[in-house]
Amino acid sequence: MSYQELNSAAVRVEELTTLINDANQKYYEQDSPTISDISYDSALKELQQLERQYPELVAVDSPTHRVGTNAKTTFDSLQHRVPMLSLDNAFGDTELLEWDAKLRRRLEVDGEYSIEYMAELKIDGLSINLTYIDGRLSTASTRGNGTSGEDVTPNIRTIHSIPLKLNDAHTPVPTLIEVRGEIFLTHSEFSRINEANQDLGLSTFANPRNAAAGSIRQKDPTITASRRLEAFLYAVGETSETRFKTQSSLFETYEAWGLRTNPNRRLCSTLVDVLEFIHEWHTRKEQLHYDIDGVVVKVNSFALQDQLGYVSRSPRWAIAYKYPAQQVRTKINDITVQVGMTGAITPVAELQEVAVGGVKVSRATLHNSDEIRRKDIRSGDTVIIQRAGEVIPEVVEVVVSARTGIETVFVMPSICPSCGTVLTRPEGESVTRCVNSRCPEKVRQRFQHFVGRNAMDIEALGGKRIDLLLEAGLIVDVSGLYTLTMDQLLTIDRMGDKLAGNILSAIEKSRTTPLNRFLYALAIRHVGEHTAEVLAEHFGSVNSIRNSSATDLANVNEVGPVIAQSVYDFFSDAQNIELVDRLNSQIHIIEPDTKTVSDIFAGKTLVFTGSLNIYKRDEAEAIVKRNGGKASGSVSKKTDYVVAGENAGSKLTKAQELGVPVITEEEFQQMVLGDY
Ligand code: IVH
Repeated sequence: MSYQELNSAAVRVEELTTLINDANQKYYEQDSPTISDISYDSALKELQQLERQYPELVAVDSPTHRVGTNAKTTFDSLQHRVPMLSLDNAFGDTELLEWDAKLRRRLEVDGEYSIEYMAELKIDGLSINLTYIDGRLSTASTRGNGTSGEDVTPNIRTIHSIPLKLNDAHTPVPTLIEVRGEIFLTHSEFSRINEANQDLGLSTFANPRNAAAGSIRQKDPTITASRRLEAFLYAVGETSETRFKTQSSLFETYEAWGLRTNPNRRLCSTLVDVLEFIHEWHTRKEQLHYDIDGVVVKVNSFALQDQLGYVSRSPRWAIAYKYPAQQVRTKINDITVQVGMTGAITPVAELQEVAVGGVKVSRATLHNSDEIRRKDIRSGDTVIIQRAGEVIPEVVEVVVSARTGIETVFVMPSICPSCGTVLTRPEGESVTRCVNSRCPEKVRQRFQHFVGRNAMDIEALGGKRIDLLLEAGLIVDVSGLYTLTMDQLLTIDRMGDKLAGNILSAIEKSRTTPLNRFLYALAIRHVGEHTAEVLAEHFGSVNSIRNSSATDLANVNEVGPVIAQSVYDFFSDAQNIELVDRLNSQIHIIEPDTKTVSDIFAGKTLVFTGSLNIYKRDEAEAIVKRNGGKASGSVSKKTDYVVAGENAGSKLTKAQELGVPVITEEEFQQMVLGDY
């Protein structure tokens, strides 16, 4: 091979890498694809081909290594029966007053006449159109271009707050209705998804809105199901017989049908009331566990709405009052790295302290080195930072025009800043990691996690106190907490009887703890709070989890092969087993109530597939267990029944191939009730 050949291949590799990275960024972070799937796939194939041909050109961070890069998906298109429009914006009170004045002129009403307004929070999520036919969820689509969107029905069916069947017990449901609203993620779920992605070496989402969009646009509904999306419904498209008279009655009816609405709304009889609501939520929005970006003000009466009509793509009868974005400019003094409890090395921007939305901020996460490169963030840069609710602030962009030339490019250290071990970055992952299990910083982080509120909840040991115990050499691993004595604690500088007593009693209180918290506290990679609950509920005891094979674990619903392997590896490690044994001898673990109430399913294994209408899946599986049976996530010859809900897919096919009896959800219910 000639030098020239290699050189031109290198240029092409560079070109393709930039093209793919840009497309990924637009697609994953901004959820707005720039190139067609075909061009994307062909670019990726060409790059793979070149890398095979010239292995010396393979970059450690080549996009071909990144898991999920080729998981681009397309969905069928669904036509909305009534277009989904957008809203006009009002920035500030004056613009809202102008809007109100315009409405009055149009309706030819004078200043005294009161127009009732409904003021609602403007949820910063993803709008969705749900079509219910005869009260059953028929299709669900994204807004798309307003006329037609993407068919995301299987994914939407996994969202617990969206009923598959409307409740018609008290209020009749129409033959057809398009129910509209917003899909969103809470801050805590957003952080959980990003942490899990980071652990898996996948790229993280920039904000909850993008994460919600990314979760809905998944080809595999089980991925959507594993992310706890939520919904608020607030509008209507096409309806057959139901005619709502007001927005307030729409909310009441939706609630009666079992559709979730946002309780933070106010029916206002004057614009002054509306402004009060808007100003109140400007400060209160910090307390919400999801993002809002303003308030939507709607004319309450549908008759008046009809009279006002539409202008271009927005209704005249509604407006979005936008709060100013919580973005501020500051400077990056330094870029440091932080070692996480799993050893993940995260670069952090040390900022010149600023207040963002009333909260002082001096650090911002930079996620990983790919992210730094993509945004070209350098130490010394002036940057725009943003804080979304409780989420750790992040750098939105660099103010390139403010560069002076002395900014320095960040280089990921090659050794762990805490223990000096050479760092590794597994192929295909974007996370650099310290693999030393005794790394002091990892140990410290694991302790912090163990005593945390959602783990063993030993509040008295939070923050710096754990550091004091570690520095004094009083504890080596978390089991040591349970053998600490008053005398030992009193050897610590400035530790009085009172504080030592508080610490001991807090530790004592945590001696009895539910299994799920205990599992979460162990800091097993990929086992967050939700997975810990799933494992606790399914296996019922630490021993049962410990004795399970990776396949047994992977068969549990919501536990994929990666989590299963991680749990299996954890319990295969001699050091971990010893630690769990030591903890077990010190604490009392409350096992979930898995008492059997009957033996209807004794010795039987059931698999649920498709969407269930009568039970939630967890509930159905718990019923099987309470009645002596086993619920599995995959079909085999040993399966006794497959319970097939709507849109059942490959598991149903497999059951049919293997000759496993297939029953409906109704038949399952009859079995439970003893009528089958
Ligand atoms: S009403 C005719 N109400 O804001 C328009 N929209 O900027 C009907 N949004 O596309 C929309 N919260 O995704 C309405 N309480 C709320 C909302 C809301 C969030 C979103 C919605 C819409 C966008 C317009």
